[in-house]
Amino acid sequence: MCGIVGYTGADEAQGILIEGLTRLEYRGYDSAGVAIEQDGALDVICRKGKVSGLAHTLAHFDFTGTCGIGHTRWATHGRPSEANAHPHTSCAGDIAVVHNGIIENFAELREELIGRGHVFKSDTDTEVAAHLVEEAYADTGDLQSAVVHAASRLIGAYGLAVVCAHEPGVIVVTRKDSPIVVGRGARGSYVASDIIAMIDAARDVVVLADGQVARLTPEGVAFFDEAGNPLDPPVTHVDWDVDVAEKGGYPDFMLKEIHEQPRVIRDTLAGRLSAGALEIDELDLSPEELDLIDRVYVIACGTSYHAGLIAKNLIEGWARIPCEVEVASEFRYRNPIITPTTLVVAVSQSGETADTLAAIRDARVRGAKVFGITNVVGSPVARESDGVIYTKANKEIAVASTKSFLGQVVSLTLLAMLLAQAKGKLKTSQIRLLFRELADTAEQVERILADDAAVEEAALACKDATSALFIGRGMGAAVSYEGALKLKEISYLHAEAYAAGEMKHGPIALIDEGFPVIAIATKSPVYDKVVSNLQESKARGAMVVAIATEGDEDIRAHADHVIYIPKVRDAFSAITASVPLQLFARAIAVARGCDVDQPRNLAKSVTVE
Ligand code: M6R
Repeated sequence: MCGIVGYTGADEAQGILIEGLTRLEYRGYDSAGVAIEQDGALDVICRKGKVSGLAHTLAHFDFTGTCGIGHTRWATHGRPSEANAHPHTSCAGDIAVVHNGIIENFAELREELIGRGHVFKSDTDTEVAAHLVEEAYADTGDLQSAVVHAASRLIGAYGLAVVCAHEPGVIVVTRKDSPIVVGRGARGSYVASDIIAMIDAARDVVVLADGQVARLTPEGVAFFDEAGNPLDPPVTHVDWDVDVAEKGGYPDFMLKEIHEQPRVIRDTLAGRLSAGALEIDELDLSPEELDLIDRVYVIACGTSYHAGLIAKNLIEGWARIPCEVEVASEFRYRNPIITPTTLVVAVSQSGETADTLAAIRDARVRGAKVFGITNVVGSPVARESDGVIYTKANKEIAVASTKSFLGQVVSLTLLAMLLAQAKGKLKTSQIRLLFRELADTAEQVERILADDAAVEEAALACKDATSALFIGRGMGAAVSYEGALKLKEISYLHAEAYAAGEMKHGPIALIDEGFPVIAIATKSPVYDKVVSNLQESKARGAMVVAIATEGDEDIRAHADHVIYIPKVRDAFSAITASVPLQLFARAIAVARGCDVDQPRNLAKSVTVE
């Protein structure tokens, strides 16, 4: 969702802010703006639409100031517009604020501030912060204490970066439930809501904790608690390749990230098998404690939820532990049965999804052990869980998750094996065999990626449809849900997924001449059942696209298009079958002229409820 950048140093801020905002575009936004401090005043420029539009406008001004803040906004309070874009300013225009998150008590604060004579220029919740800082600054004449005082009045989530015309070169930042990272580079000090915005300039960063305050100047960064006591927070070194933010010759990030998946599988598995036994030390639970677990909840949203559906089959199948998979926004508002022997597994690529975080907190209050599975080191999900598995996907830029999904599926597969190992349900020899086959999927995915001709052909046949149905059984059902979501997200083609056995109970009514039915029809214990569903679909005129196992020539009789994938054990079929569906969704989106990496209305991290 929204993104924050800030810079103070030896160089002109304008270009650095635009570059940082461009790096944050992947998160999804509808407007952008900057505030640059120059000659004892703040120049604030905002534009609706893309960062390139803002850059175009800024080119006419050519500000030379060396301190500034910038923002990409994804509208929550107030429609996307120039007036609602950040930075927001005080009445006098001498204080500018950018904000990520939601200020829940903004309506009361706004009324209170208007009562004291403040004039509001936007419909946003954020603007109250600018006026609160203004009032506190009038009392103290100190930006840092003014920001702390203003933050103490806010209920909700916030990452805040504030500049003041009377304190040249100073940026004050603080946060609660919304990420802020601060870094020091050779040419100045940087702040952002996401490391990627400053990765070229600063690789040793501090991930601010809730309530901490950072004061950035051209000379360096000082950290404080809310009471103003100095802090010395730990520094994290970021070792991603800089090219994580580049397309590396691919036409879009999504395709690049799809092609990174064999590497993700290998990296996620590296070092996990030692002397024939699985080890996930980061989980910080002894085999005895793992053995006590008698119920598992996987909680997540969107694609991460689909990874959970796949895991359910494995956790129940191998470890024989009852496993429920729930969307976090439901879990957090009901009264789930949780005991001290319940394990809650929270899955989140970004590690900052608001509903998933709330569900983690709720589960821990109720006494559950919580494991996080996330892609982002130091993210709120990682920090707030009892143990964490990192998915090793590296930064994912395209809004639609692909490589992080595969990383989640592989991590959850390891967790299922670990639970089965602890419970004595899988012998060492079985674990070794499974691990080897799991590792082999990296090469199998490479083979799928090497030849996408059948996918392209099927995509061309389906691109003009208005709706599509994805079906499968068992693992195939879980994969279908993800396939349909991918297609919806990036091509805006309506798609639904069903467990194929449900066809006769309703969705079959949709099928008429040429209606696309995409089926996961790989060799599995339910293969024949899926084939029956294909026959029923074909009999009603459907255009069937089948994802099938190499060597299965019979399937051609039931499908218009067949996409073959290598033969794998059913437990690992979700890994291989998901890949052609990612390519399929992308190919349709490209054919329909859609923006593959930044689909409309979507944000990469959903940090509000
Ligand atoms: O960062 P998270 O994994 O917690 O995000 C959850 C969903 O918002 C996310 O998976 C979303 O569905 C993606 N757009 C999927 O492509």
